[in-house]
Amino acid sequence: MERLGLKKVEEFRTPLILNDQISMRNRLAIAPMAGLTDIPFRSLCWRFGAGYTVSEMVTSKEGFWSTEKSRLRRLAVPGVYPWSVQIAGSDPAQMIETAKKLVQEGVQVIDINFGCPAKKVCRQMAGSAVLKDLDLIERIVSQLVNALDVPVTIKTRTGLTRADDLGREAVVRAESVGAKMAVLHGRSKECKFQGTADYGKIRSVVEAVNIPLFANGDINDLDSAILVAEKSGPDGLMIGRGAIGQPWIFSYLLGEELPSIEERLVVMNEHLDAIHSFYGSERGARVSRKHLMAYFTRLRAPVLGKQFVSLGTPQEQTAWLRNIDVGVVESFSSSAEEVAIAA
Ligand SMILES: Cc1cc2nc3c(=O)[nH]c(=O)nc-3n(C[C@H](O)[C@H](O)[C@H](O)COP(=O)(O)O)c2cc1C
Repeated sequence: MERLGLKKVEEFRTPLILNDQISMRNRLAIAPMAGLTDIPFRSLCWRFGAGYTVSEMVTSKEGFWSTEKSRLRRLAVPGVYPWSVQIAGSDPAQMIETAKKLVQEGVQVIDINFGCPAKKVCRQMAGSAVLKDLDLIERIVSQLVNALDVPVTIKTRTGLTRADDLGREAVVRAESVGAKMAVLHGRSKECKFQGTADYGKIRSVVEAVNIPLFANGDINDLDSAILVAEKSGPDGLMIGRGAIGQPWIFSYLLGEELPSIEERLVVMNEHLDAIHSFYGSERGARVSRKHLMAYFTRLRAPVLGKQFVSLGTPQEQTAWLRNIDVGVVESFSSSAEEVAIAA
């Protein structure tokens, strides 16, 4: 594959071909984030130009088909291509069964999570815990590649600790048995979300493999996107927390203007409506709080976010947000600069 080694904004716009059937319209991906990157949010990111989206992680444990949470997570985002679902697990047979059902439903890319550091996941020997057994990683990827007709990709971290290079080894092994792409978060399992991402380690993986490698970790704005691209020379960038409260980060990185406050409020209202209709009343009211708090924090108006969070019902939320005056928000947001959102 011809490497772009992303350096310039224009290169973000280049499509990426995974195989003769599956391609991405550009090199900017929205990261999977359980509890945040649901269908309403990924639709919005796609509308703002994201070239690739992956579902929130679904477990490959038996019975996952029946839970409402998993059903909502594995749905296709209308109009978004390709349809990619992320699975976690460590039992190859079970993962194949799950992946086959997903492919029968129409899923076009199967992504494997070898990066989640959460205790709940690692205790089940899934996510980043699997990095301690590279042979198992190789077996999982190889068996999934052989069993499926769709591209298999992996998402992982630099290693178990800051000192090791197990992430690089995992990607090298995954490539050797047929993985079509990998995403590397520049932190180790041990680091969780602390410290800074290590883009040098990402570069060492880019240099070790020929499959497309996406860099991930702490991309929040144009400067950080260019810095990560320059330091790690990846084939694409995956953005997680940097898109929360500002899904327009994708159009901005692709060269468009940032939306005005008035335009942002329109998007926030649309996002709220989409969350309510996707989840229904009770869950919708809950899920919307995280997103609206993030929008207002980025607008330097966390006070308004707190007011929103105190509202009880979807009807109250809708009425309150519809009534927000642009001038009031403007009085908080003295600058168009974006504000970081904590993990
Ligand atoms: C709340 C939250 C949920 C996450 N859920 C997932 C997940 O389901 N699958 C996954 O591969 N990574 C998950 N991640 C990790 C992100 O995809 C990403 O690798 C990480 O946030 C670093 O990128 P960022 O600095 O751009 O946010 C999650 C991160 C957060 C903050």
